[in-house]
Amino acid sequence: MIIGIIGAMNEEIIELKSVMKEISEENIGNLLFYKGILEGKNVVLVESGIGKVNAAICATIMKEHFDVDKILFTGVAGGVNPDINIGDIVIGEDLVEHDVDCTTFGYELGQIPRMKTLSFKGDDNLVAIAYDTAVEKFGNSKVWKGRIVSGDQFIASNEKIKWLRDTFNAYCTEMEGASVAHVCYTLNVPFVIIRAISDKANHEANVDYGEFVKVAAKNSKTIVEGILRKI
Ligand code: ADE
Repeated sequence: MIIGIIGAMNEEIIELKSVMKEISEENIGNLLFYKGILEGKNVVLVESGIGKVNAAICATIMKEHFDVDKILFTGVAGGVNPDINIGDIVIGEDLVEHDVDCTTFGYELGQIPRMKTLSFKGDDNLVAIAYDTAVEKFGNSKVWKGRIVSGDQFIASNEKIKWLRDTFNAYCTEMEGASVAHVCYTLNVPFVIIRAISDKANHEANVDYGEFVKVAAKNSKTIVEGILRKI
């Protein structure tokens, strides 16, 4: 079994890389993939870069080139549900691309024309393992399971938060998860998206993000290690 692990930014993968064993590197285009052993499992780790397209490229390569059996995505997100605080964890039950709008043709917001599904569901088993692992590490009150929405936008506005909540019932927002989910849906790869909250996607989001991104990324990485021990 090979597990693909994707993080968008260096902060989100660097610590996993530091505890990987037997590392070998492989370049594909501008991307650098690390193959090795983590918690006794064969893994391939990559920093995808930010945004939906970068993440989708990596998810596709993970399946088509490295033939991974499962994909874990680790990183940070902005909280949308007002009960969710900085440092909390959200496990993606399902994911929606919030910046898709073909409503003029009668599709729902977020729905990609001619696709049957509005949202892409995380693998039930991986979601359950991720949730249980997160609760073990951080406690019930800090761990959430719900919808994550992704778009090529850093959200830093109360109006936009309200819209994401009212339209999608989003728990948190980020810039990659739904595109990885979309690829995994199309290529039949079980996946889970794990996000730690670095900011509340409001007018202070850029400041909070700067302060909390490293801690949040560490929290998300701790859960990835815990999941690897269990699968
Ligand atoms: N990642 C972390 N915080 C975010 C935000 N507020 N919007 C989009 N992506 C994020």
